[in-house]
Amino acid sequence: MLELSDKIKQHFWNPLNVGEMENPEGMGSIENPVCGDITHLYLRVHHGVIEDAKFLSFGCAVTIASASVFTEKIKGKKIDEVFEGSDHEVIQRLIEMIEGELGEIPPVKLHCPPATVQVFLEAISQYLSKIGDIERSSRARRLIPQISEFYRRGETTG
Ligand code: FES
Repeated sequence: MLELSDKIKQHFWNPLNVGEMENPEGMGSIENPVCGDITHLYLRVHHGVIEDAKFLSFGCAVTIASASVFTEKIKGKKIDEVFEGSDHEVIQRLIEMIEGELGEIPPVKLHCPPATVQVFLEAISQYLSKIGDIERSSRARRLIPQISEFYRRGETTG
């Protein structure tokens, strides 16, 4: 049987921020490219600050725990902060917000956390495009293919 950390179990049994949001400023939906599981993420943004985030997921325990942790941690962050640094730094920081909190993730489940980061980038890109910040909206979209290396991590380890 798969060994999951206490944090993963805790967020799986009692996930935070589950549900739809009415009239979100940004919304993203993705199918995990590895397993096909679907996640939706909604953002409430005001004056450049992510005030609220919610999600719905039809994924596994690790995906639900990832989205729970991520939506909690992204609340209160300024969009400027999110995009600080190089592309690699931005993605690494977003992934770390999840994995730093959840503890060890079984190799066969390493493709699950990146889906939350991807759906967040979809949602924030949609929001930025709506407000006419085309440069950062495009950057968020350009970051998405760079997540592919994170999806592949489990392949070599089992
Ligand atoms: S989301 Fe599909 S296995 Fe985790």
